[in-house]
Amino acid sequence: MGLRGGASSPRVIDGKAVAAEVRARVAEQVTKLAAANDGRAPGLATVLVGDDPASHVYVGNKRTQTEGVGMRSVHHGLGTSTSQQELLGLIQELNADDEVDGILVQLPLPEQIDQDAVIAAIDSRKDVDGLTAESAGLLAQGRPHLIPCTPQGVMELLRHAGVEPEGADAVIVGRSILVGRPLASLLLNANATVTVCHSRTRDLAGVCRRADILVAAVGSPRLVRGDWVKRGAAVIDVGMNRTEDGLVGDVDFDRAVEVAGAITPVPGGVGPMTVAMLLQNTVLAASARWG
Ligand code: GUN
Repeated sequence: MGLRGGASSPRVIDGKAVAAEVRARVAEQVTKLAAANDGRAPGLATVLVGDDPASHVYVGNKRTQTEGVGMRSVHHGLGTSTSQQELLGLIQELNADDEVDGILVQLPLPEQIDQDAVIAAIDSRKDVDGLTAESAGLLAQGRPHLIPCTPQGVMELLRHAGVEPEGADAVIVGRSILVGRPLASLLLNANATVTVCHSRTRDLAGVCRRADILVAAVGSPRLVRGDWVKRGAAVIDVGMNRTEDGLVGDVDFDRAVEVAGAITPVPGGVGPMTVAMLLQNTVLAASARWG
């Protein structure tokens, strides 16, 4: 493992710039796909249940950027008291709708709804979030199709920063189905030696100190201290915590930046990549569906 180029100062990875590159690539693919299909561009359906302000912002971004790369955005906003049956009914409709190439159900869902049942209802060919058992199983077997957006964005950032996962000690803090677990598969598929930490991990600091690639994805503000970071390590911060100090990550950036070889800021690191990879997944789902 190593950072190519041998930079002596820590490099702050610009997620906004990398995301813009991905979007430009996606826009070109959309143009080609539409040209080959009588002008019909891929379509992404977004489903948002309830009135969580952060989720509204995230979904708003997804819709704007979908249209920004020339794709169609179809939005379904449902009330907080929506029943599971109603939501499952909508997903069946979207599964059957030929105009819909990707389905994104924004999480979290209100408590009366069983998230696992909703994810399981999504047609895996339209699973642009990569969360169904089919998508997760293919990724775990090392033959991925649609990969969850945030971990895919993390891999893209590592590539962009010149970080080689092969042979590296990669430590992931967090084991969620959205980030930690799929990222462990991606890093393993890239020949890293992967450790996944969680709330029961003994000596979390000690495990983190061994990491060449350290990813924090737990949702705990500044949990990862500067002295948990090995000199020269690549540090990827997936956290987005709203605190009295504003939006902060899971890493104590101000300390960690002094020792890391490369590090993502919050905001402007992983966040913009999630939406960019969603757009890429939608193009992939459309191409696969259209043969
Ligand atoms: N909520 C937070 N991140 C995500 C994501 O990547 N996908 C979905 N569907 N919901 C989220």
